[in-house]
Amino acid sequence: MFQKVKKDQKLHYFQETNQFQKTIFKLDNVGVKFGDIQALKDVNLRVNQGEIVFITGASGAGKTTLLNILAGNYPQTSGTVTLPTGKFSAQVFQELRLVENMTCLENLKLVFDPSIYKNKKEFENDLYELAKILGITKRLNIKVSNANGGLRQKVAIIRALLTRPDIFIADEPTSSLDYDNAKRLFDLLNVYNTKRGMTVIWASHNRELVGKFVGKILHLESGRLIHSGHACFI
Ligand SMILES: Nc1ncnc2c1ncn2[C@@H]1O[C@H](COP(=O)(O)OP(=O)(O)OP(=O)(O)O)[C@@H](O)[C@H]1O
Ligand SMILES: [Mg+2]
Repeated sequence: MFQKVKKDQKLHYFQETNQFQKTIFKLDNVGVKFGDIQALKDVNLRVNQGEIVFITGASGAGKTTLLNILAGNYPQTSGTVTLPTGKFSAQVFQELRLVENMTCLENLKLVFDPSIYKNKKEFENDLYELAKILGITKRLNIKVSNANGGLRQKVAIIRALLTRPDIFIADEPTSSLDYDNAKRLFDLLNVYNTKRGMTVIWASHNRELVGKFVGKILHLESGRLIHSGHACFI
């Protein structure tokens, strides 16, 4: 099922530098049950600080459940979960939780936190820079209730990044985006990863898409982690 490495293929290996050796997520034999449904079975994994991790798998494979466990949103049914302490996570889940009767800009301004930014100007510089990179500067005054799926998704992503998180957890962040926009988002997260050491955990059913990006792939099938790889192919 997974591509074999051909001689002429360019391989990108995940950089395991000393700086990023610290394990921040540790799951041992983790199971999650919803009634009779076993959403995750016997999952063992480690995520190091500063890693970019893609969680892939078909619909119902357990991606969202795994993200919820990593985000600490609910407890596992069995096994041991160790989550990072003293780190701030931002989550972008399928339910975006934007304020519908406000504009995109107003939604973004809601997250200004004076304990993170020196002043409002610094915050707004970040806001407009992120809006520019994702190509939504001209659409910031659209009311969320009139915004299309792609715009909503980008606003939710920018809102999360404006909190300057240590860890960025996103569930299908590109479901409403085309390839160019998905690539732009990846490049942006990559900059945050390199510049700030932000750990990225990104779930997607689209293995072909995330396979084009550089990061570790964790593949789920019927709740089991069946593949973990450090290489991806271009
Ligand atoms: N809150 C819940 N209550 C009951 N069953 C649930 C709940 N959450 C998930 N499940 C079930 O657990 C299994 C895994 O679901 P999950 O949402 O994690 O999969 P997924 O890989 O995210 O799928 P998709 O690609 O469709 O988002 C599915 O069978 C799903 O129906
Ligand atoms: Mg899901």
